[in-house]
This record gives sequence, structure tokens and C-alpha cells, in this order.
Amino acid sequence: GHPQLAWRDDELWLEDVRLAALAQAYGTPLFAYSKASMLAALSAYQRGLAGRKATICYAMKANSSLAVLQVFAQAGCGFDIVSGGELERVLRAGADPARVIFSGVGKTRAEMRRALEVGIGCFNVESESELDVLDEVARACGRVAPVSIRVNPNVDAKTHPYISTGLKGNKFGIAHERALHAYRHAAGLRGLSVVGIDCHIGSQITDTAPYLDAMDRVLDLVQAIEAAGIPLKHIDFGGGLGIDYRGDTPPAADALWAQLLARLDARGYGDRHLMIEPGRSLVGNAGVCLTEVLYLKPGEQKNFCIVDAAMNDLPRPAMYQAWHGIVPLHRDAQRVPQRYDVVGPVCESGDWIGQDRELAVRPGELLAVLSAGAYCMSMASNYNSRGRAAEVLVDGAEATLIRARESIEDQLRSERLIG
Ligand code: LLP
Repeated sequence: GHPQLAWRDDELWLEDVRLAALAQAYGTPLFAYSKASMLAALSAYQRGLAGRKATICYAMKANSSLAVLQVFAQAGCGFDIVSGGELERVLRAGADPARVIFSGVGKTRAEMRRALEVGIGCFNVESESELDVLDEVARACGRVAPVSIRVNPNVDAKTHPYISTGLKGNKFGIAHERALHAYRHAAGLRGLSVVGIDCHIGSQITDTAPYLDAMDRVLDLVQAIEAAGIPLKHIDFGGGLGIDYRGDTPPAADALWAQLLARLDARGYGDRHLMIEPGRSLVGNAGVCLTEVLYLKPGEQKNFCIVDAAMNDLPRPAMYQAWHGIVPLHRDAQRVPQRYDVVGPVCESGDWIGQDRELAVRPGELLAVLSAGAYCMSMASNYNSRGRAAEVLVDGAEATLIRARESIEDQLRSERLIG
């Protein structure tokens, strides 16, 4: 899955940087990201949408580190944000506020006010009560809020069981059947200006079919909404394209969009401004997490390989039983591998990184956890008072520290003793 990861003389390299040298220089656990991989992932979308009016809004929740945002801002991306914190981050990274869209079911008034003040491109509204509050906030500060309504296309779960957020019975979006009513309501509010429609059907999608189904349902709505006299300038198809974690075979972004655009053209909507919100597929396989083996602990039922990265650094296995590849930074064909559960130091049985992995390693040696560019650092916590890991951006033979390892002082800064 990693385009820029390769063996050279039994050592693992990311672009032209030897990963073991990075671990020695900056310590572990350490996230390392390939800039070329991010730009290659982005260019697959750019190719797919070439010649169209389109905005790629990177869903920054996948990896919101400032330098990562800078890479995408400099490449011309817009951003999909979900909080006031993400808004401040992306402004700090130099994003154009007009290319920022604001998703999420629970926007606060303060977040709305700030987003209006800086002039974001669109609010992706998720409920009718949010429409009313946004209208009120916009009028109070003398602005008009550009809005899109997130519709829930209710794509059939039976045929596509692994997509979840586009189905009835979850908290996201407004039901397909209710959408026209919500649009009529929005169009009647003076503080709002209806500019688009959006949907997002789930994450780690590895099939084209659910996208085509969702597009059909959204276009049905576009037709009905415009027939009611409410024009829509843009159509936002969300994110969700999967990556290869373990032999997964999602369509390439350009191939996916070739099919989606054919459908869009066939239905006569090919000239619309298109928006997409990819997250994982832009960064997931650009990053690895380097970790040191602390102890090998043989057991009767299982052998444990205890490493210095844990569920606070890599929460996906503990949270979703997700699978990430784990490979040594130095390979030695002479050694006999053993089967281990790779676990972290956190005091929870759920603190594992990988189960039943064949590894030939010794204490003090280094491992890379693969596909760690998305939803790892951005979901990291301080559980067990562990400082969050450092991060490095690799560009050719150059490596730049983009986040220093969090110190205990960083962690204690906002706390107060009771006297
Ligand atoms: N747009 C909206 C409205 C979203 O809710 C999301 C992700 C995206 C775009 C980006 O989706 P992506 O292209 O990254 O699939 N923490 C989980 C994934 C949660 C996804 C949440 N929403 C994980 O680690 O698998």
C-alpha cells in the first residue's frame, strides 16, 4: 500500500531516508510521513477531476498536523473541518477560508460565529434545528451564511454492509424523504443562502457501487430541489474512499471518478461545481509509525512483543480491531520468526497493535507500523500520561521535524493544583 516505502540492502527506507536513522535522530514512537505520497494521492483525484469545476476539500480530521495541512494548502486544496479547533489550525496553515467547508452534527454558536467572521465557503448543515440556529447567528452578526444540507442517501446496507454513515438510523445528515422540506425551510430564512447539497456515506469504502448508488439518490434530490425553485451551485459527494491496509483493493481515485463522472454526465449534471471530502485516502498510506521493541515476553498461550508505541498513539486496533502491517526496519533472512501479539505499555488488555504476527526481532530493535498516516496522530491521546509522539515529514532525502515530542510540561500546562 505504501508507494514510497522500499527495502534497500535489508533496511527500510521512506523516499530517500533510512527509517532507522530517523528513529535514532528523533526517538520513538515517531510518525514519519512521505510528502511525495500525499501529493501522489492528491494528484490521482486531480487527474480524475481534470477539466471539471471541482474543489478537493481535504477532510483534515484524518491528520490535522500543521505541516500536513500546509502541504495540501500549498497544493491548492480546500478543507473539510468539523470544529472550531480545526478551523484555527487550518487558518494557521495558510488555507483560503473561502475553500473551507464546515461539517458535523453539533456546531456551536461560537463556532458558527467565528466561521462566518472569517468567511468560510459553506456550512454543511446536518439538521433542521441547526438551520434555524445558523440563521439566527448569521443575522445577529449581519452576515449571510452559505449552506449546503447533508442528505442521507440511505444506500442499501444489504449489498454494501461495510458503509455505515449513509444509512437510516445514524446521527448524520437529513433523511432523503425529509430533504426537500428542509431545503424549502432553508430557502425561506434570510440569514442563509442555499449554495449546495452534500452527502458522505462512510469510510474505508473499497467498492465503486455504493458511490454510484449514492450519486443517483443525490441527483434525484438535486432535480426535486431545483424543480421547487431552489438552485444548487455545487454538489459535494463526501469522502470515504478506502486504502490498502491488508490486501484491500479500493478503486484508484481517478478510476472511481471516471465512472462517477460518466454517470453525472449521463444524467446532465456534468457542468456543476463538484466538491469532495477525502481524508484517509490522501494521507493513510503516506505515513508509518516507528516503534522500539522493549521486551519479548514468551508465554504458554501467546508470546508478547512489547513495544514503546501504544493505543494512545495508534488507537485504531483497540477501537475498531483494525489491522495495520508491522515490519522490522532491518530484515534478517537468517533468523527464525516467532509468532507474537504486538502490544504497548498501556495498562489495558485492549492495548494491542497487532495480533499473531510473525516477527524475527530482538529487544532494542525497531519496527514500523504501516498505513499510519490517517486517524492515528489525529486520534492520539495522553492516556496513562503518555506524551504524544513526534512527527517528521520526509521529502526526498530531507527529513523535517514537524512536531516535537510532547513533554510532561506540555501535558501539565493547563492543570492547576488546588492549593
Ligand atoms: N466527510 C465527512 C463528513 C466525514 O465524516 C468524514 C469522515 C470524511 C469526510 C472523510 O472520510 P475518509 O475519506 O477519511 O474516509 N476514525 C475512523 C474513521 C472515521 C471517519 C469519520 N468521518 C478510522 O480510523 O477508521
